[in-house]
Amino acid sequence: QLFGEQRQNSQGIATDIESEWQPFEQQVSQFLGNHQWQASSIIEGQTQSGEHHLITAPYQRTQQVGEVKWANAEQALQAINVAEQGCQLWQQTPVSQRANYLLHLADKLEQNMPELVALCHREAGKTVLDSIDEIREAVDFLRYYPQQAIQHFSSPMQQRSFRDEAQHVSYQGRGIFVCISPWNFPLAIFIGQISAALVAGNCVVAKPAEQTSLIAARCIELLLETGIPKQVIQLILGNGALLGQTLCSDKRIAGVAFTGSTPTAQAINKQLAKRDALPVPFIAETGGQNAMIVDSTALPEQVVRDVLRSAFASAGQRCSALRVLFIQEDIAERVYSLIAGAMQELAIGNPEKLCTDVGPVIDPQAQTKLQAHISWLEKNAQLIYQVALPEDCSKGSFVAPCAYQIEDIAQLTQEHFGPILHVIKYQSNQLDRVIDQINQSGFGLTLGVHSRNESTYRHIEQRARVGNCYVNRDQVGAVVGVQPFGGQGLSGTGPKAGGPHYLYRFAKANISTTLA
Ligand code: SER
Repeated sequence: QLFGEQRQNSQGIATDIESEWQPFEQQVSQFLGNHQWQASSIIEGQTQSGEHHLITAPYQRTQQVGEVKWANAEQALQAINVAEQGCQLWQQTPVSQRANYLLHLADKLEQNMPELVALCHREAGKTVLDSIDEIREAVDFLRYYPQQAIQHFSSPMQQRSFRDEAQHVSYQGRGIFVCISPWNFPLAIFIGQISAALVAGNCVVAKPAEQTSLIAARCIELLLETGIPKQVIQLILGNGALLGQTLCSDKRIAGVAFTGSTPTAQAINKQLAKRDALPVPFIAETGGQNAMIVDSTALPEQVVRDVLRSAFASAGQRCSALRVLFIQEDIAERVYSLIAGAMQELAIGNPEKLCTDVGPVIDPQAQTKLQAHISWLEKNAQLIYQVALPEDCSKGSFVAPCAYQIEDIAQLTQEHFGPILHVIKYQSNQLDRVIDQINQSGFGLTLGVHSRNESTYRHIEQRARVGNCYVNRDQVGAVVGVQPFGGQGLSGTGPKAGGPHYLYRFAKANISTTLA
């Protein structure tokens, strides 16, 4: 057990969270066993009929988790009709009241933590620590955006003016926002997008990833329990391509918030451009070919700890995850052997167990794609280490974490969204070339740097075109309100989620000038 190292004693039991963990584990276990969840699209507070789809646990395909009813295109349009009716009322609702519904939901997520943790295990294959982090991040978004809205949108801002004019700027919702969210943060990113759009005064049609519809639907049920008007939030579950296309080609929508792959963001952008309407805000957070640069002054033990967490935590299924480690030749062999040694200690398996470091990948399709890339690496790269999968992993979609040395980042033509680490050696006089190669990938999300030479890491920070640069630490787990998160180039449009500029993109500014 590695990622929770400070939390483990010799029996593999958490030491600093042990006292909280045991009663909590019992509460979570009530939702495991054969507990089944049901989910449907929700339009104007009413659950909808639809085609039935079974959900099974990514780590044990015989374990049924529940059933989801998929909506059709007509229901997606109906959701927009209802949202349209809610816009005026919602824009006129005071910011503090809009915020209160979301703050109430934050409390409800905390109260329902055991069920949500169980759902994160069962539907998304998340480990215990990832599940808890997931819910905490969702709660953080639900408290941060309302606080920002109250601070900046509550009352009109006075501007300096000429003569005797009084000038005010007020912010208002744009209309209907479509929020399309991914399976890797099925609660945090899902409700992060929605809460920003709602508190800024928009009505929302939310379309979560097919793989994690149960968690999303449970969250919307809890949101509706807060008493929020039913026209302001619609949930549409089902096929991403069909429903995404239907929602994003509608002239009535005022913006789209999307997190997912770069090709899907490009497809949405084209869809929006084809509408017989003017462009609307499109906020896209996408993928990365995230690198870490390690020079010979770095502390190897610290590097290894941060490489393992950045590359393999969440089974590498974070857009921020480390994909390409650039390591200065002088220390490469030493670090390789430390990485291999540390990888041997990784616990892979059932994510319900506290001692598990790496759970499954999301589904068999993801597993097949990752395995195909590993087969390519077997032929074209040099193996540093591959973890041996325990036997019971054959029941689910597991991919053995592995590290391979490759020659050039240009060999990676796409993002490989799983526990695969690529390593490239560089010589001390090649640092600028390394930074240029990272920039040339076109992605620009996270970058890790390990160096004890301040002029080196400042130089890298300045030259690298990335959204979030982390020095002498791991490069995953941006904290809401602390590390606003988002990339550039192929990695995203901005503004950064969990940061002070995010809400403005969901709002329009009205200026009022009055001559005294
Ligand atoms: N915000 C997440 C992280 O920083 C990725 O989406 O790891």
